[in-house]
Amino acid sequence: MRVTTLLDRWAAELGLSSAEATAWHDVGAWHDALRDADEPELRQWATGAPWPLSVLHGPAVAARLAAEGETRTEVLEAIRWHTLGSPAWGRTGRALYMADFLEPGRPFSRTERAFLARTLPSDFDGVFRQVLQLRLEWTLREGKAVFPETAALWNQVL
Ligand SMILES: [Fe+2]
Repeated sequence: MRVTTLLDRWAAELGLSSAEATAWHDVGAWHDALRDADEPELRQWATGAPWPLSVLHGPAVAARLAAEGETRTEVLEAIRWHTLGSPAWGRTGRALYMADFLEPGRPFSRTERAFLARTLPSDFDGVFRQVLQLRLEWTLREGKAVFPETAALWNQVL
């Protein structure tokens, strides 16, 4: 809900077409639809994605949406990769990745994240780079694996 609200606000501030604004709204509303599903259900949907459980809900939701008739590639790819990031993304995937991190309900770095959320409509690419760097730094600090797609995305925005 908070992610969708933020995406709707950015879409309005950026004056997006109604088709793109709808795509942004939909990825916000659907991206975590299976976050609380159990592992067998996630693996049933996310076939062929040999990912750890924590990131499996993205590909699972995308597969389920596709099975239900969703055809917008931009929407499916934004959801599939929303935890890891993808160098194949257009604006919808990038917007979701930022909204997921900048939504006001998260308890850390509130002032910095609110500033980035406000700045996004005037500097989409700059804020995306900053969010990606912050998320990557956290991944490294926690000693977690960096996925090839995440590294490729970072190298793309340097
Ligand atoms: Fe998620």
